[in-house]
Amino acid sequence: MSTRVLTGITTTGTPHLGNYAGAIRPAIAASQVDNVESFYFLADYHALIKCDDPARIQRSRLEIAATWLAGGLDAERATFYRQSDIPEITELTWLLTCVASKGLLNRAHAYKASVDHNEAAGLDPDAGVTMGLFSYPVLMAADILIFNANKVPVGRDQVQHVEMARDIGQRFNYLFGKGREFFAMPEAIIEEDVATLPGLDGRKMSKSYDNTIPLFSSSKELKSAISRIVTDSKLPGEAKDADNSHLFTLYQAFSTPAEQAAMRADLQAGLAWGEAKQRLFTLLDEQLSEPRERYHALLAKPNDLEDILQAGAVKARKIATPFLQELREAVGLRSFAVQGADLVTSKKKAKKASRVVSFRDDEGFRFRVLSSKGEDLLLSKAFADGRGAGVASKHVQTAQDALDIRQVDQQLTVWMDNECIAQGPQYGSDALCAEALLELRAALTAE
Ligand code: TRP
Repeated sequence: MSTRVLTGITTTGTPHLGNYAGAIRPAIAASQVDNVESFYFLADYHALIKCDDPARIQRSRLEIAATWLAGGLDAERATFYRQSDIPEITELTWLLTCVASKGLLNRAHAYKASVDHNEAAGLDPDAGVTMGLFSYPVLMAADILIFNANKVPVGRDQVQHVEMARDIGQRFNYLFGKGREFFAMPEAIIEEDVATLPGLDGRKMSKSYDNTIPLFSSSKELKSAISRIVTDSKLPGEAKDADNSHLFTLYQAFSTPAEQAAMRADLQAGLAWGEAKQRLFTLLDEQLSEPRERYHALLAKPNDLEDILQAGAVKARKIATPFLQELREAVGLRSFAVQGADLVTSKKKAKKASRVVSFRDDEGFRFRVLSSKGEDLLLSKAFADGRGAGVASKHVQTAQDALDIRQVDQQLTVWMDNECIAQGPQYGSDALCAEALLELRAALTAE
């Protein structure tokens, strides 16, 4: 069985070299491994919590989408989508909100940090705290649980949120699963050996320190940033210690062991810092020029980006829509008309709820299964004789749980002895098809 790996990227800001080496590059590599299904998404609902500038939100979503694709993410292979294109995520958020305990959320680091900050400043503990910030972990739990992700690569600061997702998912399973585990338990993966790149000043590369190296801006800007890397004041000819140089750390993150060894030896032998910077520039510029071109080409065609993400949403919703339908059923949000779940338990009602009708047309002998509302659930193939139709019809009505019903796209088919003997109408959505399946099962398992 394949493992589902899922991670979200909050869409505030423009990715820099540190994001690329620390998160984007390893995630793209991981998505190419066999037996892994990866789900990467733009966490744009999460972005709204931190940012109320619509133009920045929009710009960042576009840039981050383009960065991942330019970096080599294969959107056919991975499922790549925007959180805000999957309404099932917000719906699940509410179902989970109703089982998440407030006490659990009170302990979330991000919320607690705001409260501590307010208290230290003598303010109301909840000053400036929105419900978005408070409920942040519930939305994140929905992101993870809607796709039953097994592994969630995150930064250290997000581990607590993944644990909360387990907690909330477990509680939902317990309350509504009736022995069934709706949600798989996700595991946070912290990539220990992934470099946290130093910035220009040697501290962790981060926008908040204003020490970043741009990723896909021009060669000129790349060069200018590299020229601002802080080094010690050793002169050309003086021996330099690679291990105490963040310029070397940056070089290391993009070079082969052989290149690293050469650079290390040359620094030891007195290579000038200016030269070393030039080498770093050449290395980066070579590696980034191709993705940089792709990046700008993508940004120039936002319609194409939109199409790619829409296709990603369709793929994601193929899973999310029927799953959410089951979750809605589980909590009691059921259709009045179909009452599929009720029919399973109340067999008497079910008896009346559906009908099997045999008939004959130009092509031969057939039968139909009609729903309680008189709609077609199944139409059999044409049998050459009445006996064949009778055997098949009897099988459909008596096989109970053993009846081989298959869903192909948005259509139900019924099989007997490796032959398709009946099929349902083409439904317009996975949800309708899932509902029809419930109804059909309920009708046919009744005595
Ligand atoms: N909160 C994460 C961050 O800031 C982003 C995120 C949102 C996420 N939903 C997620 C990560 C689900 C992993 C899984 O980094």
